Amino acid sequence: MGFTVASFFSGIGGLDLGLERAGFGVTFQCEVKSFCLDILEEHWPDTPRKTDIRKVDHADIPVSDVWAAGFPCQDLSLARMGTRSGLRGGQSGLFHDFMRVVRGGMPRAIILENVHGLLSSHRGRDFDIVLKALDELGYGVAWRVLNSKDFGVPQQRRRVYVVALHRDPGRAAEVLFEPECGDWDPSSRRPNGTKSPSLFQTIIGDTRKGPLVKSIGHCIYAESARHTGTDWSRNYVWYPDGRVRRFTPNEVERVQGFPDDWTLPKHMDELAADKIDSLRYHAIGNAVTPQVAEWLGGRLATVLTKGKLDTLRKTAINEVSEPATVGAG
Ligand SMILES: C[S@@+](CC[C@H](N)C(=O)[O-])C[C@H]1O[C@@H](n2cnc3c(N)ncnc32)[C@H](O)[C@@H]1O
Repeated sequence: MGFTVASFFSGIGGLDLGLERAGFGVTFQCEVKSFCLDILEEHWPDTPRKTDIRKVDHADIPVSDVWAAGFPCQDLSLARMGTRSGLRGGQSGLFHDFMRVVRGGMPRAIILENVHGLLSSHRGRDFDIVLKALDELGYGVAWRVLNSKDFGVPQQRRRVYVVALHRDPGRAAEVLFEPECGDWDPSSRRPNGTKSPSLFQTIIGDTRKGPLVKSIGHCIYAESARHTGTDWSRNYVWYPDGRVRRFTPNEVERVQGFPDDWTLPKHMDELAADKIDSLRYHAIGNAVTPQVAEWLGGRLATVLTKGKLDTLRKTAINEVSEPATVGAG
C-alpha cells in the first residue's frame, strides 16, 4: 500500500473513492448518518468507522498520511435563503471539532472541501478562521476553487479545496496549481462542423426524442425525492411532447461521476422506495465528485513522495558530514 488517508464526514465516500483511485488506502471513516454508514460499509467493509465527530479522539485514528474532511456546508452555502451562520452554525461549526482532533493527531497532510460560499461567509472572516487554525499548528496552506465540469464530469459544481502540509509551506500550492496548460480538445466537433452530443445529453437520454437538455448539468443539490423547491428546471427534464420527469437516482450518480447503483443499499426491505430515493438524492448531492478527488490525490501523492525523498537525501547528507565517532582502544 502507498499513502494512506483517514476520512471525516465521509458521506457516501466520494472523496474516499477518488483518493483510493489515486492509490491511497482508506484507513478510517467517520460519518453520522445511518444510510451513509450502510453505503460505506458496502464499499469499505474492512475499514474502521466512528460516527459522531464530537466523540472522536485522535487516538481512535490509525496512523495515516492524509486526513480528508468535506465538512457540512449547510451554514455556508449560498444556495440557502437568509443569513448564513457560517462556522458558528451547528453543522458547519463541526469544523472546530475536526480541528480539535487534528491538534491531537497532527497528520502530515490535510484536505478540506466545501462549497465556495466558505470563502465569502461573514465577509471572509470564516475562511480566515480556517486558515489561522491551520497556520497556528504549523501547516502551509493553499486553496483553489475547482469545477467538476473540468474533470470529465458533466456538471457545474464549484467547490473550494484546501490543502495543508505540515511544516512544508511551499508545497501545498504545488498540489493545487499545475504550471502546465491544458489543451482544448477539438474532438467534440464533427468534421462537418456540427457538435457531438455532450456527455450530459448522452447520460440523460435520446438526443432526438428527448428528454431535451442543455449540454451541461446544473449543480446536483442534496434534496429529497419529493422536491418542493421553486427552481424546478434544475431537477427536471422535458420531452418535445410536453412530458416532464425528474432525473433518476442513477442519472444523478452518473452526473456526479459515481458508478451506477453506488448508493443503492443491499438491504432495503423495510424502506419504502421513495424513502430510499430521497436518501440517495440527498447523499449524492452532498458528495465530492470522485474524479476531482482522484486528480487531487494524484498530485498530492507526487508532492508527498518528493517530500519523503528530500528528507531521505537530507538524512544521508547529515550522515556523511557527521561520521560516527570511532572509539579508541
Ligand atoms: C458534505 S457531506 C460530505 C460528503 C463526502 N465528502 C462525500 O464525498 O460523500 C458532510 C457529511 O457530514 C456528515 N456529518 C454531519 N454531522 C456529523 C457529525 N457530527 N459527525 C460525523 N459526520 C457528520 C453528514 O451526514 C454528511 O454526510
